[in-house]
Amino acid sequence: MIALIDDIEIGYDDAGIGVPLVLVHGFPHNRTLWSPQVHGLMDRARCIALDLRGFGASSVSPPWSMDRYADDVVALMDVLRVPQAVVAGLSMGGYVALALWRRHPQRVRGLILASTRAGADSPEAREKRLAMITLARERGSAAVADAMLQGMVGKTTREKNPDVVEGAREMMVASDPEGIAGALQAMMHRPDSTETLPTIDVPVLVVAGDEDALIPVSEARAMHAAIRGSRLEIIANAGHLGNMERPAAFNHVVSEYLAGVTLE
Ligand code: MLT
Repeated sequence: MIALIDDIEIGYDDAGIGVPLVLVHGFPHNRTLWSPQVHGLMDRARCIALDLRGFGASSVSPPWSMDRYADDVVALMDVLRVPQAVVAGLSMGGYVALALWRRHPQRVRGLILASTRAGADSPEAREKRLAMITLARERGSAAVADAMLQGMVGKTTREKNPDVVEGAREMMVASDPEGIAGALQAMMHRPDSTETLPTIDVPVLVVAGDEDALIPVSEARAMHAAIRGSRLEIIANAGHLGNMERPAAFNHVVSEYLAGVTLE
């Protein structure tokens, strides 16, 4: 489905009943990242998966920032008449979820922070983002997918589950190079969210894959330690895309978490 928000189109799926669960994809993905969760959790949550601007069926349209992505999510919640939701973000989606908490805490019933980190980019990471922007613009999204695929899924998935590897690649190849460049700019300029973590006073689930080569498990442990009362779940034999790589295990920990979350 498509919603019109401030003159841009935002693609989304809205399926199921229960606590609203807004699913925010990572980079350079789209809402199909969350298909295993929409299908697996729709009997216990209203699953709303959206394409961030620049990705999937959404318009490729600046401005590019975590704050803007977060405001788009809230604008979609307004359109769908969802006052409060559990906001789940994977990797870049986690950066968006933390921005959303900072800007609209009253809209957040809980947070799921998957394969993500609180810190900002280092100067070296920013240099790599600039090189990736050039790669996207000069050689297209397939070149970006090729550069990222190795780190995107875990070793076990690479060895045993080629369909998931191919699914991840297809999602990346489908991304618009300007949407990719925009997200890279948004990520390289995102603020450090470390100071935000102790302000979070809603239920939080931190999830990581033990084979994540892009964002190490130590980042998840640090977020868990900084967020009072949070739960930490490490998914075995999963890499950066644990929700696609081990969907049953991922959905299980999300279901357990959701059982403790009620709407006010
Ligand atoms: C992602 O998966 O969203 C990105 O790898 C995150 C990042 O590059 O910081």
